[in-house]
Amino acid sequence: MSTVSAAQPSVLEQIQSLESQYLVQNYARYPLILHRGRGCYVYDPSGKRYLDLLAGIGVNALGHAHPRLVRTIREQAALLLHTSNLYYHEYQGPLAERLAKISGLQRTFFCNSGAESMEGALKMIRSHGRKIHPDKYEVVALHNSFHGRTFGALSITGQEKYRKDFEPLVAGAKFVPANDVTALEQMVTDRTAGIVIEWIQGEGGIFPMTTEYARKARELADRYDALLVFDEIQCGVGRPGKYFAYQLADPIVLPDIMVAAKPLACGLPLGVIVANEKAAQGLGSGMHGSTFGGGPLACRVAIEFLDILEGLLPNIEQAGNYFRMRLEELQRHYSFIQEIRGRGLMIGVQLTIPGKQLVQDAMEQGLLMNCTHETVLRFLPPYIITEKEIDRGVKILNRVFKKAAKQANTN
Ligand SMILES: Cc1ncc(COP(=O)(O)O)c(C=O)c1O
Repeated sequence: MSTVSAAQPSVLEQIQSLESQYLVQNYARYPLILHRGRGCYVYDPSGKRYLDLLAGIGVNALGHAHPRLVRTIREQAALLLHTSNLYYHEYQGPLAERLAKISGLQRTFFCNSGAESMEGALKMIRSHGRKIHPDKYEVVALHNSFHGRTFGALSITGQEKYRKDFEPLVAGAKFVPANDVTALEQMVTDRTAGIVIEWIQGEGGIFPMTTEYARKARELADRYDALLVFDEIQCGVGRPGKYFAYQLADPIVLPDIMVAAKPLACGLPLGVIVANEKAAQGLGSGMHGSTFGGGPLACRVAIEFLDILEGLLPNIEQAGNYFRMRLEELQRHYSFIQEIRGRGLMIGVQLTIPGKQLVQDAMEQGLLMNCTHETVLRFLPPYIITEKEIDRGVKILNRVFKKAAKQANTN
């Protein structure tokens, strides 16, 4: 018998091997298995701890294993998981009422994801336009935007790299540069049925809209009887320190439709279209639906989350300001940090160097973030983050940046 045995594959290698054989190969994952989480930390199977400054790309708003959510999920799982939308359950009505109060928009449709909510909003736009004229079906959207991966949502996503393999897409999309009032004025016409705007572009690299621009979009939508849609999937539901990013403007610029998803049920799939009466009329009886949308578990968790969020909003703003201040300190030391953007706990650090290796190095040091558009580090931490945890994150980032600076000097 040989005394030398071949090295056993690690758990990571085993998982990677299985996934490479059986999964559609569309994701490029980091070499990390996440096993459990608590608060702002997640742990790999060996128990190594990571400060989670990405929160499942803006989903885990209350961090991980929040005791009130765990209790709610346990209780509801033992009562009723699914009803279909053929019957009532106790949580859609109260959640919709809550959403109406915090958004200023009256009617909700429940679905399961961001793209799905955008898809429904596009149907509202189409049917609104068709009632006026068959040629009124154009949707004006922004360059550099991201609205999801389904055909409709992709059609109005202003980034060639996501669209090119799937063309022809849904007809009628027109793109304009963000924050360019003149370009918007030139593009919106009688044929425009909808204008779609992310208040803070997330995947596009954390670029906020100006209030002037949003106001112009509102004015043009009114002038041409088009529906104004704000995509709050990444930038909304508390993340900017307000319930929704459009509430950052004073006075508020109210859309006709707002779509939200990611943090709404803190990790359970839940998306919403929240619309005013006029837009909601676009989806009459039998015109839209969803098997899973608005199930009792997700809706009850969302209500519990909104109960907690009310008291957390000031923390989101303060923690966000503190995080940005600490990042600005780092900016003074590292010339490759060009700009820090964002509001509340949605923060982008614009670099002049590629960010991929920095993300990798931070992960090795126990910090999770990601990089979008090659050169923007993106932070979407849980809303419960404390200054102490931010300090810990900044300390790790400092080490990572120091290494990058050293490498830049030796190259
Ligand atoms: C602004 C925005 N809209 C839409 C989507 C699509 O959401 P989902 O991945 O839940 O379909 C995303 C996802 O990142 C997003 O950030």
